[in-house]
Amino acid sequence: MCGIVGYIGKADAPSVLINGLKRLEYRGYDSAGLAILDHDQVRVAKSPGKVMNLKEKTRHDWTPELCRQSAIGIAHTRWATHGPPTEVNAHPHLDQSGDIALVHNGIIENYRALRSRLEGKGHHFYSETDTEVLVHLIGDCDKGDLFQAICDALHQVEGTFGIAVLSAREPDRIITARRGSPIVIGVGDGETIIASDAAAIVAHTQRVIYLDDNDIAIVTGESVEIRDLNNVPVTREIAELSLDAAAAEKGGFDHFMLKEIHEQPDSLANAIRGRLDHDIGSSVLAGMGTSPRELAELSRVVLVGCGTSLHAGLVGEYAFEDLADVHAEVEQAAEFRYRNPLLGSRDFVVAISQSGETADTLAAVREAKQKGAFVMSLCNVVGSTIARETGRGVYLHAGPEISVASTKAFTSQVAVLLMMALKLGRGRRLSRDEGIRFARDIESIPTLVSRVVAQSERISRIAEGYAQNEHAFFIGRGPMYPVALEGALKLKEISYIHAEGYHAAELKHGPIALLQEGTPVIGLALDIPGKDKTLGNIEECRARGARILGIITEGDDEAAEFMDDYIMVPKTHPLVSTVPAVVALQLFAYHVARIRGCEIDQPRNLAKSVTVE
Ligand code: F6R
Repeated sequence: MCGIVGYIGKADAPSVLINGLKRLEYRGYDSAGLAILDHDQVRVAKSPGKVMNLKEKTRHDWTPELCRQSAIGIAHTRWATHGPPTEVNAHPHLDQSGDIALVHNGIIENYRALRSRLEGKGHHFYSETDTEVLVHLIGDCDKGDLFQAICDALHQVEGTFGIAVLSAREPDRIITARRGSPIVIGVGDGETIIASDAAAIVAHTQRVIYLDDNDIAIVTGESVEIRDLNNVPVTREIAELSLDAAAAEKGGFDHFMLKEIHEQPDSLANAIRGRLDHDIGSSVLAGMGTSPRELAELSRVVLVGCGTSLHAGLVGEYAFEDLADVHAEVEQAAEFRYRNPLLGSRDFVVAISQSGETADTLAAVREAKQKGAFVMSLCNVVGSTIARETGRGVYLHAGPEISVASTKAFTSQVAVLLMMALKLGRGRRLSRDEGIRFARDIESIPTLVSRVVAQSERISRIAEGYAQNEHAFFIGRGPMYPVALEGALKLKEISYIHAEGYHAAELKHGPIALLQEGTPVIGLALDIPGKDKTLGNIEECRARGARILGIITEGDDEAAEFMDDYIMVPKTHPLVSTVPAVVALQLFAYHVARIRGCEIDQPRNLAKSVTVE
């Protein structure tokens, strides 16, 4: 959420910063801005809207010579928290003197109190942001030592921050710090890049340092010096990135979302490769860090996450109970720590997060650790905060997910959860034969998914018939219930059609009142237990004039009879079939949004990686 880039080195800072912002734009795209040093002056350019607008603005306002001679700068792409996405609210913000510029991710919770105190001292604020208060506070604390001033200011703030600061009075450095909002420092050859996400760094260097909470670093083109907020030096290792810059390109597809949907046979193969042991019918997930005894003694699995990751957790819940015979629960991460959950050492808490930075999920991890539970993570972004804080976990290896709407991360989350359930099951009551069969079903997921992806054109034609509606309902039972939730989420977030997912049986307890002639109902009626009941629920909708799009099993002509339109997915184990079924719904949502002319990769009001509560 929000993207930060900072650069100090030999290159022309504005173009490095703008290229970096473009890589981070998926994190927030309400407005963007940058600050550079022009001799003893800070120069700022800001613009509402996308990074392209900012690029135009700098091209218009700044001479090529100014850009070339400026080798230090900070920049930001914003997802508004305080104040609308106007130019004045865009970052960077300046202190009272105009010498210090700051970009910030996170929320300063006590900014109102700080602002009125500073106003009392004669400070004048232009924006409605908490960030402007922070930079004024730093300016107020600055008695000739920027580093110390930032430490003093950060001691006074409550909330979260990832910041980068530059000052015209100390033109050889950028200072960066974090608490609750990620900062990565790329260590290049005579240049250093600061970013909230390694995606902005990978074009420059693969060598990075991840700051921990309450770290503050003095960064020059040649050095990185890290201390804590009490000015005590700390050591952080240099890590090697395994990101490929090309993975963050569209590669011939119209949208990242479509590319990521098509990548799923590969991303799933990467999630599964080397993790199944067909001889013993189990999975090999060393990152789970559980001994066989611990597995046998677990009393409960608690899956926490938000949004799409929460839906993956709901599929996992069915898998753990069904295969591993262990009590499983799914918790909305946002609620977890506030309702004082009952947890102990025999509870296995799995935090699910593509980005590994979601504030609510991170808070849930901390709460679960505090209460002594056995905590692990399931993240996609290597080195992310949740991955590091849990210390044990399984990576998805799905590659960078750039589209704001999550697709390939979801399917990899489900695949890994199925493998976890298999492992747990084999440590408990699942027989070797059952394990072997299920491992084979998991192994086949990439092939099953390619058969759905191959139907993209057909799904696009079906989507034509649904793109003009303003409401839609998705229904399913058993493991297809979370798929219905996820299908509805995909459709609403990218097409702006109001879509709701329900358990198929729930519709008649109220929502069915909303059905009218032609209202779309997307029914997940695969040939798995519960199919007949779902078909019955579909009939109830049809009787009220709904238009039915069925997701059904290949060759199931009987089910096809119930539908106005249908998409067929391959037959497999009921839990495994959640993956091909959801891919059909991803493609449906994508094509509906495309037909409606929506901005698919960056839907309005959203941001990838939600680092505020
Ligand atoms: C929807 C979507 C979001 C995320 C949610 C959690 O397409 O992407 O609902 O799933 O914000 O994000 P992560 O998985 O990064 O914790």
